[in-house]
Amino acid sequence: MDIKLRFEEETDFRIVENLTREAFWNVYKPGCDEHFVLHNLRKSQDFIKELDFVAELDGVIVGNIVYSKGKIVNENGMEHEVICFGPISVLPDLQGKGIGKKLIEHTSRIAKDMGFKAIVIYGHPDYYHRFGFVNAEKFDIHTADGKNFDAFMVKELSEGRLQGVAGNFIDSEAFKVNNEAFEMFDKSFPPKEKKVTDTQLKEQDYE
Ligand SMILES: CC(C)(COP(=O)(O)OP(=O)(O)OC[C@H]1O[C@@H](n2cnc3c(N)ncnc32)[C@H](O)[C@@H]1OP(=O)(O)O)[C@@H](O)C(=O)NCCC(=O)NCCS
Repeated sequence: MDIKLRFEEETDFRIVENLTREAFWNVYKPGCDEHFVLHNLRKSQDFIKELDFVAELDGVIVGNIVYSKGKIVNENGMEHEVICFGPISVLPDLQGKGIGKKLIEHTSRIAKDMGFKAIVIYGHPDYYHRFGFVNAEKFDIHTADGKNFDAFMVKELSEGRLQGVAGNFIDSEAFKVNNEAFEMFDKSFPPKEKKVTDTQLKEQDYE
């Protein structure tokens, strides 16, 4: 399979939002709002344009990854910049073929070259451990409300970059979803049925 990675262009925005909706729909909850998060993130000053990549197969976009800036704030109020990726999406029919891996590995190399310290994510540990992500607790990094759990992970972009960096992780304000605005936005996409599925995470996985 000849997968090509390239920067996302403005003309791709709608296609990629629809791809994100297809990838996330009914996976973590009935329906999804990640396509709206993506839409808002791109407009945010925290968005990192240089790390916004699409994966193409035969000229068709089949995957996307985006990154944004966040910070780790310690108890004295000292801040350190980190980055996080997400949404990351691959079209359902093409999942499990290494496209996600390609997107993550390519962009984390660029992120390292750009001088970023570390990537912080919420995600499935079974998947992300293979890329070197570890429980954030190892670095004394906690969620905004001081918690740790397996799904909250961090990866140093080179060894020692998180030395002296500890505290609570605050992600971009752009991740906050206004429900009314979201409902309007989602209506502009083709109708899709919301369902309860067995992939939907139990609340305790994220607490
Ligand atoms: C997560 C996602 C981007 C991975 O992309 P992909 O191209 O399918 O992944 P890859 O082909 O690189 O890797 C496939 C491997 O990851 C595993 N994997 C993929 N998603 C996983 C998940 N959510 N939980 C656990 N394992 C997962 C597969 O089981 C497979 O394992 P194997 O190599 O041992 O067989 C893609 O599956 C997707 O779009 N999922 C829906 C949206 C989503 O969950 N995004 C991430 C939110 S944190």
